[in-house]
Amino acid sequence: MKPSPASGDPGAGRTAFVRSVRGVPGTQALARELAAAFGPRAFYALEGDLGAGKTCFVQGLCDGLGIRAAVSSPTFAIANEYRDEAAGRRFLHLDLYRLSGPDELDTIGWDDYLDSGDPMAVEWPDRAAGRLPAGAVRVRISIGPGPDDRTFEITPPDPSAGR
Ligand SMILES: Nc1ncnc2c1ncn2[C@@H]1O[C@H](COP(=O)(O)OP(=O)(O)OP(=O)(O)O)[C@@H](O)[C@H]1O
Ligand SMILES: [Mg+2]
Repeated sequence: MKPSPASGDPGAGRTAFVRSVRGVPGTQALARELAAAFGPRAFYALEGDLGAGKTCFVQGLCDGLGIRAAVSSPTFAIANEYRDEAAGRRFLHLDLYRLSGPDELDTIGWDDYLDSGDPMAVEWPDRAAGRLPAGAVRVRISIGPGPDDRTFEITPPDPSAGR
């Protein structure tokens, strides 16, 4: 997979669309919809403040891809791998919030994860600036106006990029 030429900005130059949802079910329904639209090899760069709903969105992605797994925040592990033995597939969920530095990407096997082509979502992707795939779907989540309202700004992958 090609690294993004635009360091850390997987959405550079592409047109985003905006969707507003309410509550966890709204976020998960949108994630299921996007999983169907972008398919089983998509890479999601999930941006948004603490508590924006990134992990909640990943639950919907897994559900939409038919990967039955208990999705939880991988904050302490950095990487969680959800395997659905019945489906024979896995989903990769990374949270880079506590990444000590770019070198740690190599320690956790970042390139192998990318090369696997398995569906993948990364929270705090700015920590991997310059090493995000050009074919990433960028998802920016903002909170409000109400506490359960979320606005999603979704930038589809560059059609000329691999994944
Ligand atoms: N529409 C919504 N979508 C997602 N979460 C919502 C929504 N409304 C309220 N919430 C609440 O916001 C919180 C989102 O938590 P979540 O762990 O998904 O955030 P996060 O972006 O992954 O945070 P972190 O950066 O700490 O990992 C949950 O407590 C959830 O119940
Ligand atoms: Mg999270």
